[in-house]
Amino acid sequence: MRILAIETSCDETAVAILECAGDETSASFTVLGNALLSQVEQHRAYGGVYPSLAKREHAKNLVPLLEAALEEAELLHEDRQAIGEDMRENIGSILAREETLGESLLAFLEETEAPEVDAIAVTSGPGLEPALWVGISFAKALALLWRKPLYGINHMEGHILSALATSTGDNQLVLRNRDLPILALLISGGHTELVSMNPWLNYRLIGQTLDDAVGEAFDKVGRMLDLPYPGGPEISRLAENARSTPRETDLALPRPMIHSPTCEFSFAGLKTAVMYLLKNRPALKDEERERLAQEFEDAVADVLWSKTERALEMTGARTLVLGGGVSANTHIRRIFTENMRSYPDVALALPSPKLTTDNAIMIGMAGYFRSLQKAEIAPESLRADGNLSLA
Ligand code: KG4
Ligand code: ZN
Repeated sequence: MRILAIETSCDETAVAILECAGDETSASFTVLGNALLSQVEQHRAYGGVYPSLAKREHAKNLVPLLEAALEEAELLHEDRQAIGEDMRENIGSILAREETLGESLLAFLEETEAPEVDAIAVTSGPGLEPALWVGISFAKALALLWRKPLYGINHMEGHILSALATSTGDNQLVLRNRDLPILALLISGGHTELVSMNPWLNYRLIGQTLDDAVGEAFDKVGRMLDLPYPGGPEISRLAENARSTPRETDLALPRPMIHSPTCEFSFAGLKTAVMYLLKNRPALKDEERERLAQEFEDAVADVLWSKTERALEMTGARTLVLGGGVSANTHIRRIFTENMRSYPDVALALPSPKLTTDNAIMIGMAGYFRSLQKAEIAPESLRADGNLSLA
């Protein structure tokens, strides 16, 4: 089965085409085409993701990315297609709110044969609703025109599958470490949560942040340190510099809620602690800024690990998954890899760099599992849900 997958939940526009085979336990994937554009440069000027800019960029980029993914998959065949008046109107009204996307899609469709894909999967949440709607409307129009089944996908499920995916050769992916229960620590710009999966693709929320997401804390602290957006990779760079020359420092930050007997997190207090520290010491030298970045990362990693350890004991998990943009963080990966040596019976699954950040491959993999479950959705029923949860 060939799936066309679309992702537009935040500031990455992505289209992928996957050839999928096997049943729920033996699924395997071949990435036939993968096209992605990050908008991070455009958002940098605003110090964060600017929703109406994200929406406009998705609308501008989806058709070129679809074309690129189809071309890579050798599924792009030029041919003149007459699109009936009724269908033009339908597509026009589905894409009415998506800037010029309707016109560019119709122009593209009139020049190409319907490609040999069997289903369409699109992120329906969580994320920025104006951004999600662009991808959803686009997917609906394609599903209607090509008469293909449509699947709405939870972005966080994509992040979990990304961590389980392992490459078995050129563009081939299979899932490993599937022993249940699976515990997932999902850490991104909008999320910080521990969920357990058992049975396969059925979720229970174990704990989440009471305020800021960890990626949000990284980005806000980055701004306080005058670092460009997104702050996460920049703080990581400073902190790794500091670690390369260890030295005593009096820059201490709290570990919020580390002793509370739950799996809940709080990062707002940590961010505020950084703010006060900077107020009290306005003229921090470069080296001290690096030490502060290190202390911030240490505090984040300590809290994440301590809550995850509690959740491992609570759930009896056999596999621990890290997912979401913050799971790219070198220090967090290192701490989890080291600490998991005390849990030889639990496998640790970390996403490869290519699958750590937002992408459409993960949406295609989730789409395949949803198609095996026959969870097709009628195009008119699919809606964006910015707060869509797994459990
Ligand atoms: O999953 P993602 O790409 O988008 C969302 O769905 O939010 O995550 C983006 C977040 C941003 O907050 C960014 O600062 C953070 O992931 N991030 C990092 C690193 N790379 C990205 N945070 C810490 N260290 C990193 N290396
Ligand atoms: Zn994400």
